Amino acid sequence: MKITAVLLAAGQGTRMKSDQPKVLHPLCGKPMLWHVMEALKEVTTEMPVVVVGHGAEEVTKYLGASARTVLQEPQLGTGHAAMQAESLLMGKSDLVIVTYADMPLLRGETFEQLVETQRLNTGPFSLLTVIADEPRGFGRIVRKPDGTVESIVEEYVATPEQKQIKELNVGAYCFNAEWLWGALKRIEKNQKKGEYYLTDVVGIAVKDNLPVQAVLHDDFVETIGINTRVHLSEAESAMRQRINRGHMLNGVSMTDPASTYIEAGVQIGKDTNVLPNTHLHGDTIIGERNTIGPNTIIRDTTIGNGCKIISSVLEGAVLEDNVDMGPFARLRKGARLKSHVHMGNFGEVKDSTLHEGVKMGHFSYIGNADIGAHSNIGAGTITANYDGEKKHATVIGENVFIGSDTMLVAPLEIGNGARTGAGAIVTKNVPDDTLVVGMPARAIKKLRKKKE
Ligand code: UD1
Ligand code: MG
Repeated sequence: MKITAVLLAAGQGTRMKSDQPKVLHPLCGKPMLWHVMEALKEVTTEMPVVVVGHGAEEVTKYLGASARTVLQEPQLGTGHAAMQAESLLMGKSDLVIVTYADMPLLRGETFEQLVETQRLNTGPFSLLTVIADEPRGFGRIVRKPDGTVESIVEEYVATPEQKQIKELNVGAYCFNAEWLWGALKRIEKNQKKGEYYLTDVVGIAVKDNLPVQAVLHDDFVETIGINTRVHLSEAESAMRQRINRGHMLNGVSMTDPASTYIEAGVQIGKDTNVLPNTHLHGDTIIGERNTIGPNTIIRDTTIGNGCKIISSVLEGAVLEDNVDMGPFARLRKGARLKSHVHMGNFGEVKDSTLHEGVKMGHFSYIGNADIGAHSNIGAGTITANYDGEKKHATVIGENVFIGSDTMLVAPLEIGNGARTGAGAIVTKNVPDDTLVVGMPARAIKKLRKKKE
């Protein structure tokens, strides 16, 4: 059976007071539209159709190859929006789920229930409802004595009695496709608002004596729709709780989930402990048995197992196992720390590899460098990698000892087992096992090789 989702995303979102299209506003790091599409992926068999209008160009660009789009121009209401999908889907789908792209908390399993209800329904469609004390401007559900739906009454036309109804229209429908395209053509323009309301398809089914089923959902939080930035922050907090709970159930510890900020899509292995005020963004993958935080920001970074990262900022980096870092360390794009690297306070690494067991305890900048295994970078070491026009590389061998406050003026190579004296300014390559000192540093003696 072919099941396709149609997401309505053409509205202006005026109440967001934003230049950005509403459905692209992020929630835990991903646009609301992404969340809705992820949930729908679990129940649909075909590529979704997104109805775009306001900000169509931006939304279409964001979607790329992940969805088909149709333009609704002008925007004449939700019924008119759904109608735009007909040209793409006529005869190509058995069931069509229509939902609003500003409902990012709905889960795949909720859509699943909706689809299951419709599969058993002898009538043309089923819809999702929720019972809530706060109506939030949602349409009210009027049921017939047999439990099927009689009508959806929009708030602005509801009578005082109808306004008391606690069952609300969430805005997710599963239709028999063939019936839908015919019914949409029969919707009449709402005289007051000049719009075609999708919700009026209920009246059309009822007129034809066809049953409309409602799936009553018990979690109001999931049905939070976003019309203002206040709603956005409420949804953000609900989504955050959901994400954190998922990690905890998978074996990740959190001392205080309320102050732990993990974006959708971040992966964390078991027995990792995430401490308060830690922010994990983007394509971040964290292995097992790590301690992350407190006060740490990590973006687009891969971390192995058994690492310890305190109060640090990492972006675009790769860490192998048992790396120990911080407080106050910073990794930038292209930083690669192999296993057992130790990086203490106030160090910065960019576009560089620190091989196994490198120690860089305090106050250093390492850029465009390759540092051999078990070398020690003394406090205050700087790779002077930029001459004002180009970046140059510094290559340091294994078991090198860089003395405190050394300036490494790139391009530069330092041989295995070499040493620099404190305060050295190194402008020329240093051979293996050689001690250099001074300003600029010059060779003063050949070091004896350590016994094997
Ligand atoms: C709608 C429902 C209401 C339901 C509520 C749940 C209708 C008539 N009413 O009201 O019963 O309780 O959602 O959130 O459907 N859109 C278009 N093109 C348009 C108009 C809207 O694509 O011409 C899109 C919007 O971008 C939005 C969605 O449809 O994503 C819903 O539109 P909105 O104006 O927010 O409807 P509500 O007033 O919230
Ligand atoms: Mg709305």
